[in-house]
Amino acid sequence: MDGNGRWAKLRGKERYEGHIQGVESVRRVVRAAADAGVEYLTLYAFSTENWGRPAEEVDALMTLFCSCVINETPELIEQGVKVSVIGSRTRFSTEVNARLDEIEERTAEGKVLNLILVLDYSSREEITMAVRNLAAKVAEGALAAEEISESLISENLYTTGIPDPDLIIRTSGECRLSNFLLWQASYAEFYFPQTLWPDFTEEEFRKALEVYASRERRYGTL
Ligand code: IPE
Ligand code: MG
Repeated sequence: MDGNGRWAKLRGKERYEGHIQGVESVRRVVRAAADAGVEYLTLYAFSTENWGRPAEEVDALMTLFCSCVINETPELIEQGVKVSVIGSRTRFSTEVNARLDEIEERTAEGKVLNLILVLDYSSREEITMAVRNLAAKVAEGALAAEEISESLISENLYTTGIPDPDLIIRTSGECRLSNFLLWQASYAEFYFPQTLWPDFTEEEFRKALEVYASRERRYGTL
């Protein structure tokens, strides 16, 4: 979800106002995904690198995450959305972590759409952690090096149990992954609309699904 800051700047507003507007797009896309029968929707909301932004903006984002949990949970429950949070939870305040636990617990029965919120996430950090875990098992004799397989690595990532993404959409015209799901994205299709995230509509989401449906996925074969 990229382009909140530029959206705000274009209107002479503060960056955080772009983030607030971005929540509207989240609502729209969650609804559109559920309507389209998408089973897993993963939203990259805050990267580990985002801690490097000015404290004022980081604080505004933390406040926004907390208020979203409070305001959006009833509607998500009603829509049958099950929320999971992935990323390192070690750098968030107790308050933010409590709110994130709350949204996971309260939506746990959702059966319509799995909504994965990616927060304080770095794909390289995730892979490093998996390598460290597996190396520790080898060192203590619980695992043979030869037993390390692609599926074992997948099982040691935050996304264990979540299918690899079929389609990755990055808004705002930036054409890069920025440390997002590097391992999981091996065979993902990419879509880079120019639209800034706060302007992203249900229609554009459906368009992205159409573009995806028209792609031919060969997985390296003919
Ligand atoms: C994405 O919008 C939202 C977050 C990273 C939280 P940006 O804040 O990156 O917006 P731009 O790229 O500055 O326009
Ligand atoms: Mg950006």
